[in-house]
Amino acid sequence: MRLHAGVFLVDTKRRMDRKSVIAGNWKMEVSHKGAIELSRALNKLLEKEEGGPEVVVCPSFTSLPAVSEAFSKESGVNIGAQNVHWEERGAFTGEVSVSQLTPFASWCIVGHSERRALAYETEEQVVAKVMLLLKHGITPIVCIGESREEREADQTITKITTQMETLLSKITRVGLTKLVIAYEPIWAISANNPTGEMPDPNDVAGIALLIRKLIATRFDQEAAQRVRVLYGGSVKPNTVEPFMQEPGIDGALVGGASVHPMDFVEIIKKAKGTS
Ligand code: PGA
Repeated sequence: MRLHAGVFLVDTKRRMDRKSVIAGNWKMEVSHKGAIELSRALNKLLEKEEGGPEVVVCPSFTSLPAVSEAFSKESGVNIGAQNVHWEERGAFTGEVSVSQLTPFASWCIVGHSERRALAYETEEQVVAKVMLLLKHGITPIVCIGESREEREADQTITKITTQMETLLSKITRVGLTKLVIAYEPIWAISANNPTGEMPDPNDVAGIALLIRKLIATRFDQEAAQRVRVLYGGSVKPNTVEPFMQEPGIDGALVGGASVHPMDFVEIIKKAKGTS
């Protein structure tokens, strides 16, 4: 797939009020003890950092209280969950509700491709989660992206358009400007990507423009320019820079590298250097 930026309104400069974001998705990669150790290590490394992107770490549910306690205010690190249920409460054994998150988390990943694949989450459920999180003041990181098969069938634009239009059909303008979109091509996520293939940062910038164009069509340019769009998929210290240099890409959702404190901090520093 190649996207030609010329067909879209090209971003040449990142808007000053669009603060970049580096979010770490710890998935199920660390034990509870490991999550505390990782938090302490990151806290130490980040306490002295000034400026730079907004940083979010997303541990498993059970580690949220301990992780939120391990970070000092000075570190500036925000705590996020990896998922939430779409209903406020009810008979949902094994699920976690939004009011169970609010004491510990101010961000939440929604619709990650691993949840869509393993837990059969639908587009409608993802949107319901987004609405509920916004109602409770939690910032959703909404994951969208195409599979390898969709990419090979030239369906990337169709897939992103469908995912965005489902979201845009339900959400208010105010709600929309509070969330963050993470464009994660499913084939580029390290667990599905043994060869470390990366998308062309220009193509990712084209997708960010497509996302903003769809928002502008539904609402207006101002709303489109306020929404932050992240890239996710095999982001490492040595792959992050070309993505961050694109003015339309406002940061990264980092999986594998986010559980290695030195790597995660290096990614944050590189994002700081380019934003
Ligand atoms: P990765 O994961 O950085 O390990 O590719 C990203 C994600 O799944 O959010």
